[in-house]
This record gives sequence, C-alpha cells and structure tokens, in this order.
Amino acid sequence: MNLIIRNIGVIATPHGEKAKGGEKQGEISFLKNVFLVIKEGKIAYIGEESKKTDIEYLKNNFCYEEIDAEGKLVTPGLVDPHTHLIFAGWRQKELSLKIKGYKYLDILKMGGGILHTVEKTRKATLEELVQGAKKSLYTMLSYGTTTCEAKSGYGLNTEDELKTLRAVKILNESQPVEIVPTFMGAHAVPKEYKDKREYIRIVKEEMIPKVREENLAEFCDVFCEEGVFDLKESEEILEQGKKYGLIPKIHADEITSMGGAKLAAKVGAISAEHLIHADDEGIEELAKKGVIAVLLPGTSFYLNEDFARANFIKQKNVPIALATDFNPGSSPNESLQIVMNLACLKYKLTPEEVLTAVTLNAAAAINRASTIGSVEIGKNADIVIWEAEDLDFICYHYGTNLVKRVIKKGKLVFEK
Ligand code: NIG
Ligand code: FE
Repeated sequence: MNLIIRNIGVIATPHGEKAKGGEKQGEISFLKNVFLVIKEGKIAYIGEESKKTDIEYLKNNFCYEEIDAEGKLVTPGLVDPHTHLIFAGWRQKELSLKIKGYKYLDILKMGGGILHTVEKTRKATLEELVQGAKKSLYTMLSYGTTTCEAKSGYGLNTEDELKTLRAVKILNESQPVEIVPTFMGAHAVPKEYKDKREYIRIVKEEMIPKVREENLAEFCDVFCEEGVFDLKESEEILEQGKKYGLIPKIHADEITSMGGAKLAAKVGAISAEHLIHADDEGIEELAKKGVIAVLLPGTSFYLNEDFARANFIKQKNVPIALATDFNPGSSPNESLQIVMNLACLKYKLTPEEVLTAVTLNAAAAINRASTIGSVEIGKNADIVIWEAEDLDFICYHYGTNLVKRVIKKGKLVFEK
C-alpha cells in the first residue's frame, strides 16, 4: 500500500549509509513542515507542505492512503543492535539477592544468572520460545523499535542453540519487527561441562558449522569476561565463526577490564559491545579499525555499575550505537527510550548524538545501514511518529512511552 504522511512538524534524521563518529555523530537534519511519500515500502519523496510544486505532486498522487502526523516529530524507526531476545526463564528472584549485595558474577557462580535461564530455555519448546519473544517484540515495537538484533546463548548445546535461532526465523515471518540473528553459543559454559575445552570444541566444531549450514545467523558473539571466556578462547571462537562467514561481535570489558576492546579490533569485529571498563588503548584500537562501540547504559544502571566512557570514545571518533541489551538478567527492559534518556544524562551525549546512536549507527552495527537508520529517499520506510514536538522532548521525558504510530516497510504496524 502506498502511503503519504502529511502534516509532519519536523523530521529529525541522520544521513548516509555509514556509521558516524566524533563530531559527525551529532549531525542531524531537521526538516520542518514536510510530508513523506512511501511507495512499495520505501521512502519515495519528501516534500514541503507549502511548496507549490509539492502541492501539485500531492494532487497527482491522490490515490494514496494518508496519515496525519498532527504537526509532531517523525524519526527513523529505532534500531536495537544488542538484545538477548530469545529465552524462557525470567529472573525476578535475583532482585532480592541484588538488594542483599550479591553481584552479577556471584549469582552466576552460584549456578543462577544465565545458567538459570539456560535450564528453562532448554525445557521450553520452539513454540514457547516464539510466543515469549513475540510479547517482548510487541513491547519493543510499541516503544518505537522496528529492527533489533537477537543473540542466542541460552541453549548452550547444539540442539537448543539451533532451536533458539530457528525461533528467530519463525518470528521474522510472523510479526513486524525485523530481527537480525547472532550466534552466541559462547555466552557461558554450561553446568554439565567440567572441561571448558570440550565445550569450546563443540561450539567450534558442531555449533558453528550447523548454524552456517542452516543459515541461521549473520554474526558470532562471545562473552569475553573473567571466569567466562578469556581472550584466547574468545579469539579462537570468533576466528572459527569467521571461517564460516559469521561476522564477529564481542561482549567486551563489561564487568572487568580484560582487553576485549583490543581483541575486537584484532579480529576485525563489526562492533565491540558494553565497553564499561575498556582502557584507552583498547578504544584507540577500535578507532583505528573502524569498530562501532555499542553501549548499553541500561545495563550499567541495572547492575549498579559504572557507565562506559562515552565522551572519551566520542573524542577518539569511534561511532557510538546504543542498545537495550534486553535480557532477563542484566537488563530486563525492551525500551530504547529509557536508553536514550540514560545516554543523555549519564554519557552526556546530546539528543542529536543519541538519535544517530539508535538509528544510523545502530543499523551499521548490524550491517543494515544501507537500507535503514535514516529517513532518506530509497531507504526502507521504517518510521516513528511521536507524541512529541521535538527530539529534545523524547530525551528529556523519561519512563513514559511517547510513541504514537510506528510504520515498518511502509505499513502502519502500531498505533496508540
Ligand atoms: O549482556 N553479559 C552477558 N550477557 C548479558 C546478560 C545475560 C543474562 O544475564 O542473562 C549481558 O549483560
Ligand atoms: Fe548482552
């Protein structure tokens, strides 16, 4: 269906098909009093409501369905480039442990944390996983997310990792949010393996080839962390992924400073994620190799941890993307809006820089910047119409959903 969005107060959007770092990250254009024409799911024309030739254009295209944006803000659909979407086993019981002072890695060592979710995910059927994720995806969509990444990593055996990624395939055919899959068999070492080497062997020799065979993922991620996978093990797994066409991503320097950022540069990762404790050298390496920093302020907030050094990362011209890290442990939150608030307040990024981080740079972090991430002619018509007059309002007003309508590939898929 062709569509015209009329009466837009302002479109706020970054430009181009590449991630932007440093000063360029804040380069947003604000197009006032415009309309948008969408043909076959793509943005076909951006006109001015008061320009004669554009009014003519509208008259000649009268057979379009029309949406009235009521003079409000329009942005690209939000892109969430780091989630652990597919799981069974929420972990609300961990809240009281956290209040008592147990840390994230303490709970993992006690056999809780990720391993609790693994137990439940293994028991869940494919259909149960699909249904659980569908609820979260609907919440994401209602908060403006039109594309997200999803990591496996709660199966931790070949069968259940494949089950997780097959759920992504089904979800991509049965609801509007596009999901980009990442294989993360190296998320933790499952309880039944006393010998970590044996588990790594299975990840490398069984899981990765099968993921490739069924074409179930585009990226390979590793939890490079003290007591989980060390630098050498992470490198080995990511290199094996590369052999099978999986682009590397890394959970780098999330809880301890491990040299994960440096490793991301070394293996040519598309993104290094978390980076709370990344050192100067690691960040400089990211800059040299053009690795995108995916920052997750919701996780810092939820783990009561430090916040990544966004301003240093920006100074070094490393493009910053923002994500929810949606998962049942360290970040039980589907909303990128809260992430945007936190990024302004805790990272001291401007609303303009934040918008690029949740659109164009986020799209680049999942290899989609040529088709999504900005409101420009030729890109997919993934669009949010807000209940807000300007970008500042979204970054300032927190905890309330400010989305009015969401359009995915030219179709109205959510309306408040
Ligand atoms: O990004 N760090 C590892 N993975 C997630 C947490 C997953 C979980 O706790 O279930 C993260 O924080
Ligand atoms: Fe994560």
